[in-house]
Amino acid sequence: MVVPPGDDAGVFLLNPEVALVETVDVITPLVNDPFLFGRISATNSLSDIYAMGGRPLTCLAIFGFSSCDYDKEVFELVLKGAIESIHLAGATLMGGHSFEDREMKFGLSVTGIVKPGKILRKEGAQPGELLVLTKPLGSGILTTALKGGRVTEDDISEAIRWMTTLNAEASEIALSSGAGACTDITGFGLIGHAYNMIKGSRVDFHIRRKAVPLFNRVMDFVEMGITPEGAYRNLQFLREHIIFSPEITEEDLLVLSDPQTSGGLLFTIKKDRTEILDKRRLPYWVIGEVSEGSGKIRID
Ligand code: CO
Ligand code: CO
Repeated sequence: MVVPPGDDAGVFLLNPEVALVETVDVITPLVNDPFLFGRISATNSLSDIYAMGGRPLTCLAIFGFSSCDYDKEVFELVLKGAIESIHLAGATLMGGHSFEDREMKFGLSVTGIVKPGKILRKEGAQPGELLVLTKPLGSGILTTALKGGRVTEDDISEAIRWMTTLNAEASEIALSSGAGACTDITGFGLIGHAYNMIKGSRVDFHIRRKAVPLFNRVMDFVEMGITPEGAYRNLQFLREHIIFSPEITEEDLLVLSDPQTSGGLLFTIKKDRTEILDKRRLPYWVIGEVSEGSGKIRID
């Protein structure tokens, strides 16, 4: 084993040139369209491979399904969506397992490969590096608004487009720009995953709230109290590790704690390496920087 448990995925050395990367993730539906749910869930499951700098090869599907409540057509559409994302990733679906479940659940177990010298770890951020994020935040808040009937899938198409965007290119960019540390933003929200990168270390992350990209209307919904339970839980757990300036509101903190599905990569790079990012078409946001410290998240 090259990377111990606790990182985005496990890494097992096969030979000096190749290591296996393995991960599994299963989620419940967050959109109504079964095909889109399959696409989002597969993209989300593949993300941890990219967060390690790997390339996905094979996938196994895990499908909890209630045959009393849904037609077989729904089952097939979820799978079809997943297969589309898997093919876009250049990987193959090898099979899987389904079981009766009152609440639908779908996800993938994914095996990929990575060069042992090119593994992106979540630790290792160095003072002076910049913090780069590759997708806007707020998918948890928007899908909560969708469940509450406040918006339609069309209204949140921007977020859905991002949730079905593979982190493949972001991972390539992180590798080619010499990223010091990397993870993907999922259930613990931006500050939760950021904290996981620095806990117990001698660095702090400085995040500039205004530099963090949000989907349209995310702030409006938070101000209306439409916020997933997970955001409150994340913030409660993280509060003691955050230092924030007086202009940062509770709503700001909730948005930064919003659990993401299929969120972007968060990685650190040296200040003089941003031209590699500029040359690529993939959007990215520099949301702050790394300084010497004691494992705190500073927000201003
Ligand atoms: Co991850
Ligand atoms: Co994961």
